Amino acid sequence: MGLPWEELRTLMRLRDGILRPHLTDPAASLDPERRLAVQRATGTEIYEYFGRILDDREARPAGDILTHFITAEIDGERLTREEILDICFLFLIAGLDTVSDSLTCFFAFLAQHPEHRRQIVENPAVIPGAVEELLRWESPVPGGVPRVATTDTVLPDGTEVAAGTAVVVSYGAANVDPAEFPDPFEVRFDRTPNRHIAFGGGVHRCLGSHLARRELRLTLQEWHRRIPEYRLKPGHEQLEYPPGLRSVKDLVLVWP
Ligand code: HEM
Repeated sequence: MGLPWEELRTLMRLRDGILRPHLTDPAASLDPERRLAVQRATGTEIYEYFGRILDDREARPAGDILTHFITAEIDGERLTREEILDICFLFLIAGLDTVSDSLTCFFAFLAQHPEHRRQIVENPAVIPGAVEELLRWESPVPGGVPRVATTDTVLPDGTEVAAGTAVVVSYGAANVDPAEFPDPFEVRFDRTPNRHIAFGGGVHRCLGSHLARRELRLTLQEWHRRIPEYRLKPGHEQLEYPPGLRSVKDLVLVWP
């Protein structure tokens, strides 16, 4: 995004205000009104934050993606300020948690499966395959945003979905569908083909999947180069996966 590294904490606080409002106001976990109040206030702050930066990029173009949003033309049209702010908001929410949450799941799995971890350490060339397989296995975004059926539909198993019905697709279930994966409950880094849908599908398929894959691969590569042996800290073996995006709360690892 071309944003200053020193502002990472601010960006994470803004992200938490939307995704974890109870960190700002503990009452928000049980009270929807309080939850909405924190989210509204944070939303305003996010739009103001990016508004200031866009003003600056207009005055001093920087060659980063934010400058690109301002100058890009599609069929002779430019994005409006509101559209750019909406995109910035979505990037902040969609881009920050997904990758770090995926990594908590990946590291929890690898800490408990030394034979898988060894494959990565001994042959880093397996990392791209390992990332795909762990994305399939963990499905960090377990389900999509609800959709509404536009026409009467019959699913392959005969289930009827009437037009107008709200539908939530479970990517997690699809990723262990035996019709697609003959051995769905085996975690195999050499799985080919691996047509998982951890990034969704169709027009709303994840826009950040290429960046996410790169971040996940690089993290596994650099971590295992430096820290090949690790495990769950004794006393912290009971892992908690809170609802929402799949992640491990307070993952504690130790290494020699
Ligand atoms: C491992 C990490 C990630 C996973 C598992 C993931 C997963 C997903 C999924 C499943 C969707 C579709 C949601 C639906 O169908 O309702 C989605 C949408 C989206 N993702 Fe990701 N994502 C990841 C990382 C990222 C990153 C790093 C970015 C941006 C930098 C990003 C940006 C987006 C955006 C903008 C959309 C909305 C696309 C649209 O509605 O047209 N994602 N993501």
